[in-house]
Amino acid sequence: MSVRRLAEATVQPASFAFSAENAAWADLTIAKYPEGRQQSAVIPLLMRAQEQEGWVSKAAIETVADMLSMPYIRVLEVATFYTQYQLKPMGTKAHIQVCGTTPCMIRGAEELMNVCRSRIHHEQFHTNESGTLSWEEVECLGACVNAPMVMVFKDTYEDLTPERLEEIIDAFEAGRSVEPGPQVDRYYSAPATGFTSLLDEDAIKRNARAWRDRPAEPAAAAAVASPAAPPSEAARPKTSAEETNPAIKSPSPVKTDPAVERAESVKAPAVNEAQANKAEPSVEGDSDQRKSGPKSPEGSADMKAPELMKGEPVGADGKGPATGAGEPGIQSAGKDTAGRTADGSDETARGTNTGTQGGEAN
Ligand code: FES
Repeated sequence: MSVRRLAEATVQPASFAFSAENAAWADLTIAKYPEGRQQSAVIPLLMRAQEQEGWVSKAAIETVADMLSMPYIRVLEVATFYTQYQLKPMGTKAHIQVCGTTPCMIRGAEELMNVCRSRIHHEQFHTNESGTLSWEEVECLGACVNAPMVMVFKDTYEDLTPERLEEIIDAFEAGRSVEPGPQVDRYYSAPATGFTSLLDEDAIKRNARAWRDRPAEPAAAAAVASPAAPPSEAARPKTSAEETNPAIKSPSPVKTDPAVERAESVKAPAVNEAQANKAEPSVEGDSDQRKSGPKSPEGSADMKAPELMKGEPVGADGKGPATGAGEPGIQSAGKDTAGRTADGSDETARGTNTGTQGGEAN
């Protein structure tokens, strides 16, 4: 994966605007999204900008961001993430994407790339001298059955040979269109070496007629002859509850008093709007704790390193209780490493704690 950056400032246009047709299309596209979700149109809008200009410039990114009320950085992230967006000027007549994934590679993709190197530029993402053609290697484009292949704009050209690719490049450079699809005598992705079965059309028709006119299956006789298969138990719940007894065929004729039913049913809790957005009491209490200073064991005077609480030596060499000075993570009897006094009242310490708890440092 290469680093994807915007093109140098020298090639960036000063401004970008959609054509009238594309602007109307953009308005329709934005309107497809639900209220508040218009930013989801960022991908199609960037793609339309690329189709219009041949690449995605900084000005196009900023224009799309303005149209969708998005920060520029958000649209920049999208444009630099997806490799479908070209961030440099590409060939004005064709940008050839050569599939370099395994099926295409073993069917000659490297030779196609050599054609691009010799005919366009020895490096991908560079245009030829006249700026009309460029190329790049891409991952699988989903036409592996017709490997090797290339894609130009939205069309694929499949079953390619180096010679045929040269002809296609010539055609694009001359402004002529080329019929997409397999470039050999092959019907889409039908077997490349021709059919091996269903060759005789008369035989196919005969078989079809014979199937249509076949005698009716002696279904009833077969059903009598073969014993009925027991029903599957797979979905049957494993329970001994009385109401699941298969012998019960209908609701009980004995009716329960509705008043008794009501009394036995669990009453749904009434919604209390004031409480609805409150967190668990323990969590709400945590917020109170931050406001009124530390009350938890961590903030109390009793909170010391376990070694000091027991009065035991600290460290592998067992050299007496540590003072904690200069030793990160070891708390002295007087202050911890954040400068907090034993009673936890020091403001520095409080600021440190609130910083990590997302609390009230300000
Ligand atoms: S590997 Fe080339 S199209 Fe799939």
